[in-house]
Amino acid sequence: MGEVGGTWFTDDIERVIVTEEQIREKTEELARKIAADYSHVPTVLLVCILKGAVMFMADFARALGREGQAVELEFMAISSYGQHATSSGVVRILKDLDRDIAGRHVVVVEDIVDSGLTLSWLLKYVASRSAASVEVVALLRKPDAIKVQVPVKYVGFDIPNEFVVGYGLDFAERYRELPYVGILKPEVYARV
Ligand code: IMP
Repeated sequence: MGEVGGTWFTDDIERVIVTEEQIREKTEELARKIAADYSHVPTVLLVCILKGAVMFMADFARALGREGQAVELEFMAISSYGQHATSSGVVRILKDLDRDIAGRHVVVVEDIVDSGLTLSWLLKYVASRSAASVEVVALLRKPDAIKVQVPVKYVGFDIPNEFVVGYGLDFAERYRELPYVGILKPEVYARV
């Protein structure tokens, strides 16, 4: 079975952008880098942004563990107030952090940085909760992200400006379980 073989979603995928193996290798590379940068920090607090970053969080946390870096896991869910409000960067917290993060070294784990507005809001929020430091690791970054001043220190892959699904990313809540990141065939959008 190949990369796009044998499952219900096979026929819906036009093209694989990042393969399962590339994700695995990049995750290990990022974990090596971050473990080295945080070697002076006993425990790094990873903050996963649900739902998209859930796969990356799970793999990345284990990769850090293999590098000998202790982590704690926190989860946040946020949603933007629709398209217009998104441009102003206003977001709504659906699930807040469970614990106080004051004095903690936080690494925000993101699936993809597109406009960067979500992240820009989030970084201000985490800083307002008095974290000792905040950095971002994003598996994917789209070209528009370069236009905004969001400091994403650790980036997995720069990808083309196309809508992607898989490895946590959805289209209408589907395709999150794909082990790779890919582009849907145009007819999939026509079906909805
Ligand atoms: P931003 O605020 O525009 O950077 O949006 C970031 C969020 O939008 C990500 O965390 C994703 O949940 C979602 N998103 C952006 N691009 C895509 C995509 O190509 N596929 C699926 N979700 C996306």
